[in-house]
Order: sequence, then C-alpha cells, then structure tokens
Amino acid sequence: MKYERFLKSPVFKRFVRKRLFDRASIVNRLLSAWFRTRGAVRPLPRSAEGLRNSELYKQWWYYGIELLPDVVTKSTFPQDFPLLPRMLLRNCDFSGGDCLDIGSVEGLIPVLMCRQGARRVVATNPHLYNYDKVQAVRKYYRAGFDFRQIGSLYDLSKKFGGSQGFDLINLSGVLYHVYSPMHVLAGLRPLLKKDGLMIVSTNVVNRLGFTMEFNERGKLQREGTTFWYPTIPLFDYLLRYFKLLPLDALYYPYGPGDQVRYTPDFESGYLCVVCRATDEPAFGSDDEWALDSIDDSYETILLWDQERLSRQAKSVSSYRVPIDPSLLSPENRSLDLYKMVAQTPPVVKAERSQDSHYLHLADRI
Ligand SMILES: C[S@@+](CC[C@H](N)C(=O)[O-])C[C@H]1O[C@@H](n2cnc3c(N)ncnc32)[C@H](O)[C@@H]1O
Repeated sequence: MKYERFLKSPVFKRFVRKRLFDRASIVNRLLSAWFRTRGAVRPLPRSAEGLRNSELYKQWWYYGIELLPDVVTKSTFPQDFPLLPRMLLRNCDFSGGDCLDIGSVEGLIPVLMCRQGARRVVATNPHLYNYDKVQAVRKYYRAGFDFRQIGSLYDLSKKFGGSQGFDLINLSGVLYHVYSPMHVLAGLRPLLKKDGLMIVSTNVVNRLGFTMEFNERGKLQREGTTFWYPTIPLFDYLLRYFKLLPLDALYYPYGPGDQVRYTPDFESGYLCVVCRATDEPAFGSDDEWALDSIDDSYETILLWDQERLSRQAKSVSSYRVPIDPSLLSPENRSLDLYKMVAQTPPVVKAERSQDSHYLHLADRI
C-alpha cells in the first residue's frame, strides 16, 4: 500500500525524528484528521472471503484477532504465549471508570477494558502506523474506545492536558523500549486518580540487587528496540518511588524454547504488576534518601507533576484479589515482588486462549 511505503520512507522517518508528532502542530492535527476520516469512511469487509482477501487482513498483525467468525489475524505470537496484563486486568474492578492504555498496537486491551465495564477508554500508539487496524478492531468489536496518538512516551501528563485522570492505566510491554523508563513513569503517574490502579509490566533479570542490564550487542534479546532489563528489586523500588504499591503480579520466565527472548547468560523474564496509587512513596519509614530524592530532585520538579497528582479525584477502581500474607513486603501493605517471583509458580504458558495474545469475538476477559 502506498501510504505504508511512505511510512517506511526516509522522509517520514525524518519527520518523526523531528518530533513533529509530539507537538500539537497543525501538521500533526491535519494528518490525524486525514487518517481518522479514511478509517471512518472506508467500509470494512463483511464476508469471511472478502476479509481474507483484504489488505487489512494480509498486513502484519501483532495480536491474533478474530475479526469475523473464524477469521483470525496472523499474530506474531504462538497461541500459548501468555499476555500477563490481560490476565491481571480481569481482577481489576473499574466499572464506570476511565481507562488509559499505553502502546495499544491494534487495541486488544482497550477492547477488553470496554467489555469489562469501563465508562471511557483511551487507546494510544506513538504513531498512526496501526491506525487502520485499530479502527477496524473498534468497529468489528463495537468497542467505543477513543484513540490518541501520543508520540514518545515521555511527558504524558503534559500531553493529556487539563485535569484528566484515569481509574486504571495499563503500561505494559513498553518500558524496555524507551531510553529512560523513570522519565515515562514520572510523566504518566500524575494521570492516575487517587487509589487508582496501574498495571506495569516489563522485562526483568531475576536476581537480587538494584541494577538495570543494558541490552548491549543484543545480549538479552536481538530485538533492536529493546534497551533495559531492571532487576526485580529495582523494578519493585521504582514503582514505590513513583507512589505505586504492588498488589499482585505474574511472572513469565523466558525459557530455552523461546528463540527470541531466551539467553543462557541471564535468568530473565517478563514481570507484570498491578499497583495501587498511594499518596506517599511506598517505602519503609527508614528510607529517608527516597523521600529527600523525591522532594529535592530537579527531575521531580521538571518531569513529575506533583500538584496534578495531588489534585486527582478519588478512583472508583478496586482490586479483587487480596495479597497473600506470606508475600507481604516489610511495610506490610503491599506485595514484595522478589518474594513473589521466588515463592510462587511462574506462568509458563497460556492455559487457555483468553490468557493469550489471541482475541475472539465472544471474549469478555
Ligand atoms: C511490545 S508492544 C506492547 C503492546 C501492548 N501494550 C501489550 O502489552 O501487549 C509495544 C508498544 O509500544 C510502542 N512503542 C515501542 N517503542 C516505543 C517508543 N520508544 N516510544 C513510544 N512508543 C513505543 C509500540 O508502537 C507498541 O504500541
């Protein structure tokens, strides 16, 4: 397709590099409007044969999505590859609440957020590359989510202006793609309502200590847009730094069967955590460094809008599963992620389709 060739062209890449997408520029708005109009007016195939022969169906798809009965897009994932945020999302109660999904690709998570009772759902992608597919999924699933093109994942509270707040935010599968994961958390955290839920998941190395492995020469995985794997204690600490209390988590270790993600040199995996927003950093009271750091750092002043965070309304969301008392962290009100991974059986595969990267028309969860 002509516009796909354009998206891959040096001209377009230069355009992205100039970060025009990050600005509320006229060019950006016109381009978005053009894409939206195209999506809105172009009729979707209504027969299985028409769909199978369409450009829409034949292009690259991240998820396996059943668009019409028995017509499922060809995902990049095996059928039993688990989608941990999906498995934790169903334990979140956000009926009547507002949800935000960061990096939605074709919109599997936003569909489920709608089906699980959200009042408003905002799907996002950095660019409009997947827009036709998002639009098609929205229509085939009759899911009324909105879409926002957000450019880079930094400074999201500035990009979502006004006093908007969300009851549930999903930030899954993106922190390893950015130069600076803390910058992303700082920008997103002020968008979460008081006591709201945030699902955060990323690649980790399963060892003690507070370091972050860099994917130098592709030693963790060959994928070219993957940078950082924090240790589990560091991931836990960073969540607490940003006033997020871990409540529940799932861990998927990368095994030798996974030719993309497995490495014999590091015990690594994917850790997905549901957190509740708390007013204070969620450390033991003896961690004065963290409190001083949050108060004094210019990064806080410049990147983490504490005022907006403190003005957020109370969330309607809640989490349905209590914390196992044997996995509590020392401050006694949240989950210790390292203990959880060490003492709980990991997820080794999706036991059923609803735990996977495949979405079927009848799925509610
Ligand atoms: C691995 S997919 C994760 C999809 C989904 N959130 C999930 O958990 O299944 C990564 C998503 O982040 C976006 N993304 C990747 N690198 C990015 C970057 N540096 N800045 C902004 N978005 C990025 C991609 O376009 C895509 O939407």
